[in-house]
Order: sequence, then C-alpha cells, then structure tokens
Amino acid sequence: MTRLLYIASSPRHEHSYSRTLTQEFIDKWSLYHPEVSIALRDLVRDPVPYLDDTWITAKFTAPEQYTPELSNAIQLSDRLVDEFLAADRYIISVPMYNFTIPAVLKSYIDYIVRPRRTFIVENGSFKGLVTGKKLLFITARGSDFRPGSAFAPSDFQEPYLKTVFEFIGFTDIQFINANGLRTDLREQSLAEARSTIQDLATQW
Ligand SMILES: Cc1cc2nc3c(=O)[nH]c(=O)nc-3n(C[C@H](O)[C@H](O)[C@H](O)COP(=O)(O)O)c2cc1C
Repeated sequence: MTRLLYIASSPRHEHSYSRTLTQEFIDKWSLYHPEVSIALRDLVRDPVPYLDDTWITAKFTAPEQYTPELSNAIQLSDRLVDEFLAADRYIISVPMYNFTIPAVLKSYIDYIVRPRRTFIVENGSFKGLVTGKKLLFITARGSDFRPGSAFAPSDFQEPYLKTVFEFIGFTDIQFINANGLRTDLREQSLAEARSTIQDLATQW
C-alpha cells in the first residue's frame, strides 16, 4: 500500500490556495491510487513548538545517554520523525511568507531533520537517510516569482525547501508554484497550476 503524508501549513484553511490546490491534487491522484492511505499533519491546527535548549541538547546526545529530561524533550520530535519515515510519498502545501516558508513549517523541519534518524555523518560527509521516496510541494505566492520575473531572485522558498529536503536524502522533488495570486495573473496561474495537477496526478 502507498502511504501518503500530507503536510499543510497555511493558516487560511478553506480560503487557502495552497490547501485548495493540494486537495484537488490528492482527490485526482487518489483515483489512480485506490490502495493509498493518507495521513494529514496540519501544522496550523496542531503546531510544533519552537526549539529550546533542552531539545537541542537532546538532538546532539546519543539516545543511550538520554536523561529522563532529554528523553521527554525529544519525544514529540521522535513521534514526528516516526510518522514522517512511515510514508513513501509526501505532499507539502506552502504559502509564500516574506520570501520563504511560514514559521510553522520551519519549526516542523527543525523537528524532523535529525542526526541518526533522517541524516548521518559518514566519513566526514552528510548523508541523507530518507531515500527512494517522492516529494511534491504545492506553493501559493501573492507576487510573481516565475523565472525571469523581477521577484525571481528573491524566491528563497523553493531553493530552501529543495536544499533541506535533499539534505535528508530526497532526490525526487517536484514543485507546483501558483504565482501572482494577488495580481492580475491569478486566474492564469490557477489555470496553469490546475493543468499541471491534472497531468501530474496520473504520473506521480
Ligand atoms: C505574512 C504574509 C507574508 C506574505 N509574504 C509574501 C511574500 O513575501 N511574497 C509573496 O509573493 N506573497 C506573500 N504573501 C501573500 C501570500 O503568499 C499569498 O496570499 C498566498 O496565497 C498565501 O497562501 P495561501 O493562499 O495558501 O494561504 C504573504 C502573505 C502573508 C499573510
């Protein structure tokens, strides 16, 4: 059975373009994958707290050396990593906030990028452990960040997400970016995103 983990990060719920487009993708994609189980990690309804000193100490401590305090501090992160590793497909819906990702998603990433769980250091080099899996981002942007546009060099969202998920081992990463949703480009962008969704739903 294919296990899909859907991670949502827009606080706008039913008004959110990234959530709406992602739901449309999942509805279409599920038609071609009837044997799929879908888990939702909603980072707005169930936010992940910011890191603290104890958590960071736990992150860099071997589990056999955990004190009860460190063990307690890392528990949520362990659960999130377990849930993450149990999936083999991932869809992450992401609004563009201040040229990058929302804080709730950044917090989640801080919890799942973990030595010994999602990456290791081998012969002095980092090696991602999350391999052989597919990842799709569906993003919504108020302005136009398409290649060649004035804002394109300020897109710190797609390059960041690609870098951090490649770091933990992903090689199959795709983006559907709906640009200019607060400009005259909106209808065209939504139509293009939906056309890509239609095509990708049969192939992904
Ligand atoms: C706090 C905040 C910051 C934003 N920053 C940007 C930005 O840097 N660039 C941009 O193009 N749009 C920005 N926007 C607009 C959103 O990207 C746009 O409304 C998008 O549709 C949000 O995704 P959603 O519809 O899934 O909630 C921002 C919106 C908010 C609320």
